Amino acid sequence: MRVAFVASEAFPFAKVGGLADVVGSLPQALKRQGLEPTVFLPWYWGIEGYYVGEAWFNFAGGRDKAGIGHAEHEGVRYVLVGLPDFARDKPYGYDDDFRRFLRFQMAVAELLQGFDVVHAHDWQAALLPLLRNLGWFGGRTVYTIHNLAYQGVWGSQDFYAWSGLPGETYYGAGLEHNGAVNLMKCGIVNADRVTTVSPSYSWEIRTPAFGEGLDGVLRAQEWKLRGILNGLDTAYWNPRDDRYLAHPYGSTDLSGKAATRAELLAEYGLEDRPTLGVVSRFAHQKGIDTILDALSGLMGMGVNLMVLGSGDPYLERTFAWAAQHHKGRVAYVQGFNEPLAHRIYAGCDGFLMPSRFEPCGLAQMIAMRYGTPPVVRAVGGLKDTVQHWETGFLFEHADAGGVLHGVSEFLKHPDRPAVARNGMLRDFSWDRPAQEYVELYRST
Ligand code: ADP
Ligand code: GLC
Repeated sequence: MRVAFVASEAFPFAKVGGLADVVGSLPQALKRQGLEPTVFLPWYWGIEGYYVGEAWFNFAGGRDKAGIGHAEHEGVRYVLVGLPDFARDKPYGYDDDFRRFLRFQMAVAELLQGFDVVHAHDWQAALLPLLRNLGWFGGRTVYTIHNLAYQGVWGSQDFYAWSGLPGETYYGAGLEHNGAVNLMKCGIVNADRVTTVSPSYSWEIRTPAFGEGLDGVLRAQEWKLRGILNGLDTAYWNPRDDRYLAHPYGSTDLSGKAATRAELLAEYGLEDRPTLGVVSRFAHQKGIDTILDALSGLMGMGVNLMVLGSGDPYLERTFAWAAQHHKGRVAYVQGFNEPLAHRIYAGCDGFLMPSRFEPCGLAQMIAMRYGTPPVVRAVGGLKDTVQHWETGFLFEHADAGGVLHGVSEFLKHPDRPAVARNGMLRDFSWDRPAQEYVELYRST
């Protein structure tokens, strides 16, 4: 079975968050199941690929062309779609993102002949199920929602001028939502099957509290909606063999973890106390502000914070201030830092993730795999992957009180090393979820 993945991120080529981990590892697992996956990705600045030719497509009322490259990673074939407005230093965050990703999708659509399944991820690929329905290419379509909060919303005039699609699709194919084009809705309405990345999130998004305005659409389409929990690339995220750890370790001998911890605390000037790690995008979703609201309480409870992340400038500034103000107790590193992320997962005693919503969350699974029990809010995929007092700690409220309660549970557990070991022994691999995707592709 030939499967095309279309997405805006894939590790190690381009990564902002967990979408990249999924698109960078699920195809490998599908290959192990006997499928033939190909991943289509924008050719961002700096990605090394072989130039193989060009592809022409319709855009903005004329003909446009993309430079096409090939790359390979762990045996999986990548097709890189080169467009001038992708040669920038980060994947998103530009005023013209909608136009950029519309153009990407119009170009990819020209390359999708001969696939049995086209599996599109998030709004940056959500137009493709409609293009299949319009006969641009064949095959079955699966659309995966990784995060309902980012929907790809734009004015209909620009959308139709750039895409050249028939205006009837606005209402007829479900593109319209609240008076604008909404690509997330387009993907949900037009795909043969819709998945999201954990069972709990698949239920939550049918309610107004988590539906981001699309809960009604999701309820209407729920016959085709299903939650499949993400897996991890367990070869890459492996404390026994991690390129960024000087002291490897496994569940039977945690001395390498202790050595990693000692080095991490010394390097960031932290006192020898229970240390909670945070590795996160600083977005509203992640509840990072609730950690700051709980800061004086956390200091009073005697824990340290080792924080890596960037995003919201207010949160960045406040953590920088907190690190100054609580020297020896709070360390903050701004930015995206793969090596340091690995050392935090390995070197901390617990991992804090107070998300307001969490479609799946990979960070808590990585932390468990590294023997670092997560303290997480009981929501979405966090609830589906962490067992309270067994592999980590769950709390209910998305506020300082919730965070403090979770951390107090962490502190009062009589045998944290046992919790750490339980987490390390859990199977977070793609083996099972990949089988579920294969069954889904077959039955679509
Ligand atoms: P999301 O996709 O919503 O950001 P996930 O938990 O699914 O959340 O995935 C986050 C991924 O991004 C993990 O692999 C995590 O290690 C990584 N990550 C997040 N922030 C940083 C950072 N500042 N530096 C390095 N890696 C990060
Ligand atoms: C999104 C979600 C996160 C999920 C990731 C991969 O970024 O925020 O919860 O783990 O996608 O599916």
